[in-house]
Amino acid sequence: MEVKVWNSDWKTFKGDAVVFFTFEGETKDLPQEVLEKVKPFMEDADFKGKKGEILKVPVSGFSFKRVYIAGLGKREKVNRTVAREVAAKVGQRLQNDKNEKALINVKKEICSQACSEGIVLGTYKFDRYKTKKEEKEAKLKEVYYANANEEKVLIGKALAEAQNFARDLVNTPPNEINPETFAQIAKELADQYGFEIEIKDPCWVEKEMPGLWAVGKGSSTKPRFIHIKYKPKKEAKKKIAFVGKGLTFDSGGLNIKPDQFMKTMKMDKAGACAVLGIFKALGELQKLGKAPENIEVHGFIGAAENMPDGNSYRPDDVIKMRNGKTVEVGNTDAEGRITLGDVLTYASEQKPDCIIDMATLTGACVVALGEYTAGIFGNEQEFIDQYLEQSKASGERMWQLPLDDELLRENIKSDIADISNIGKSRYGGAITAAMFLQEFIGEKDGKQIPWIHIDIAGPAWANKPYLWHPQTGGTGFGVRTALYYLFEEDKN
Ligand code: BES
Ligand code: MN
Ligand code: ZN
Repeated sequence: MEVKVWNSDWKTFKGDAVVFFTFEGETKDLPQEVLEKVKPFMEDADFKGKKGEILKVPVSGFSFKRVYIAGLGKREKVNRTVAREVAAKVGQRLQNDKNEKALINVKKEICSQACSEGIVLGTYKFDRYKTKKEEKEAKLKEVYYANANEEKVLIGKALAEAQNFARDLVNTPPNEINPETFAQIAKELADQYGFEIEIKDPCWVEKEMPGLWAVGKGSSTKPRFIHIKYKPKKEAKKKIAFVGKGLTFDSGGLNIKPDQFMKTMKMDKAGACAVLGIFKALGELQKLGKAPENIEVHGFIGAAENMPDGNSYRPDDVIKMRNGKTVEVGNTDAEGRITLGDVLTYASEQKPDCIIDMATLTGACVVALGEYTAGIFGNEQEFIDQYLEQSKASGERMWQLPLDDELLRENIKSDIADISNIGKSRYGGAITAAMFLQEFIGEKDGKQIPWIHIDIAGPAWANKPYLWHPQTGGTGFGVRTALYYLFEEDKN
């Protein structure tokens, strides 16, 4: 999609459609010429301007074919999340009505960035595997924004396209994305934007990351480890590490999943896809001259496929992890924490100022918070609060769950090893998984590195369209909050 700001009168726009926003029960902000034309249609359709309500009106006498009036809902309730949601609906509608070139009149009350994000997110379509032309819908190709902040519009586009990139990766089936091809995709991304990247082959993983190896060795495509780096031109003041769970498919392994739980487990790489999405955004922002100037960003991904096989790891196995701790395997389906353990150790060895991991880690987190909200955990409250602040701005819902529960810690004790990969009870499963991860966060300057864990098992996947997700499938959750956080940190 091509995106530009429009600095002339909307009446001179040449294209397919012009969009105006309106608040519920108000029409006073609409230009007189527009109001005259649309009023009878509004009355006929009983259009009130409720949130997400969209009215299409054909017009004559202009160099565009139609006008859309989009309801934002009650004026006092409008915020960035509402603007993004309504813009997404507008984008989707424009596309469905086969408009290719449109002008959006942004209002001063709605944020340019949120609006721009919404349009790009709402027009997303994963139709790569459709072979019939008619199933590939028309695309909204050119969007102009009037009364908008150009910088914010372009940043919004970059972030939303990065999220769409993550969505594409999550949606790509596991016979196409496996640990090997995932590493290739990371390499291509790095090469495209000039990022440094290290890809460790299976031999290295077998020697250096026993946990990642154990989980992935039952697959005919063996695990890979990926370390990608963004460095600003000047020396960075801060080093931030992102870690993503990268199970290209999670069958459960020998503790095989029942059919209804195995379907959609291509999404078990969503954390890793979000990490690559962050780098996609950094690359595009770099081109715009808007990338962080004071922060070095590192991405760490352990890519593996959890499969049952004669060579698979088993329940009862004991793994001596990269940091020397021993893990007794209680269930091969609690594999994410084992892969992440070694990757978090490796990330810690690079001595970053903080670590943020994103993982489709537990079904228990979805039970606790529902499918639209991620669980956030951490070892430093101030850090968690800062991240939650950005989650409000991005509209990616997160809710804090506790970590340091002495009683629950009992649950992951093992009789014969340092720790077990499965709780003695199902209760508090998201928390015990997070506590397991904490065992692998290293120290810097004599104290544990500030760390956040985001369990995205719920919001990484949309079971139906909602908000700015127009399609069932991968959501790209986590990309924009991370970027909002990086922008904020870059200022400090
Ligand atoms: N990848 C799953 C978690 C998951 C579940 C993600 C649903 C997205 C949607 C994870 O590897 C897993 O299988 N977890 C088990 C852990 C259990 C065996 C302790 C779970 O949540 O059931
Ligand atoms: Mn699993
Ligand atoms: Zn998994």
